[in-house]
Amino acid sequence: MASARDGGVGILGSGLIGQSWAMLFASGGFKVKLYDIEQRQIMNALENIRKEMKLLEQSGSLKGLLSADKQLSLISGCSNIQEAVEGAMHIQECVPENLELKKKIFAQLDQIVNDEVVLSSSSSCLLPSKLFDGLTHVKQCIVAHPVNPPYYVPLVELVPHPETDPSTVDRTHALMKTIGQSPVRVLKEVDGFALNRLQYAVISEAWRLVEEGIVSPTDLDLVMSDGLGMRYAFIGPLETMHLNAEGLLSYCDRYSEGMKRVLKTFGPIPEFTGSTVQKVNQAMCLKVPDDQEHLAARRKWRDECLMRLAQLKSHMQSK
Ligand code: NAI
Repeated sequence: MASARDGGVGILGSGLIGQSWAMLFASGGFKVKLYDIEQRQIMNALENIRKEMKLLEQSGSLKGLLSADKQLSLISGCSNIQEAVEGAMHIQECVPENLELKKKIFAQLDQIVNDEVVLSSSSSCLLPSKLFDGLTHVKQCIVAHPVNPPYYVPLVELVPHPETDPSTVDRTHALMKTIGQSPVRVLKEVDGFALNRLQYAVISEAWRLVEEGIVSPTDLDLVMSDGLGMRYAFIGPLETMHLNAEGLLSYCDRYSEGMKRVLKTFGPIPEFTGSTVQKVNQAMCLKVPDDQEHLAARRKWRDECLMRLAQLKSHMQSK
């Protein structure tokens, strides 16, 4: 839990991700100031957060030790960046994924922050060297990339600029743990960080298997959701290797030749165009029509699944 000495958190941008961060920090007992250039958006965000927290409390899924009312009382809106920064020990930037816009915000912050506060970006794929180069406070800058929806999926990738001070990474890591997230350190910046590189590797082979007519789009998704994904929710690919033989060394001994043989048959990077797009789109729309209503309902169902999975994971960890 936060203490008075911890200071507060300033969130810049009150869209989908800004709202989730606000809820997470409040669940850890931190005071949160939510800033946006759109005044009306701040009102909407505060109202969404209120409704969401009440629902979570009713279903017993609210994070943290404080009641929804207490958590809500920690979050306030503000309409200028200076106010968001005042008294903050951590700033989480959540404006749209646009390099020029983000650079402008960080240049603005660079002028007004002290030498203590951590300046963190939620960017999904902009490299820290692009975002923070040339800033006076570059030592205090980091990317903390959450996964959608962050309230239910705890992973946060921490990606430093080459000049980021190690203490900035350590402080952000500790803060993420305090609010119940699961931080990982990406030790050197790389395009796509770790999560999207893994995700794109999977999408790429999924696409080739469908393109080559080896499995249907629907069956392809089942391979993940009813196969690999079942264990990946609990153990990663490396531990899977360790457990699927008599330890990792035995796995490499037994299976490396087979893995390399199969890997050599992987095709080139797909174009994601043409008849395969039609084929995949048709299958997806048959399952979930791509109008707003159906997509929103399916996302709601996905979030419910993730919430229950999170409960199961925490139950299994405490065993
Ligand atoms: P969003 O479009 O829902 O929200 C962005 C908010 O920023 C809007 O409320 C907008 O009014 C506000 N804004 C625009 N310019 C501003 C400025 N100059 N100052 C203050 N506020 C400003 O975007 P979303 O989805 O919340 O994404 C935010 C960041 O999080 C992006 O960098 C995105 O890549 C990253 N992210 C998004 C994920 C997702 O699935 N949506 C997942 C992980 C990271």
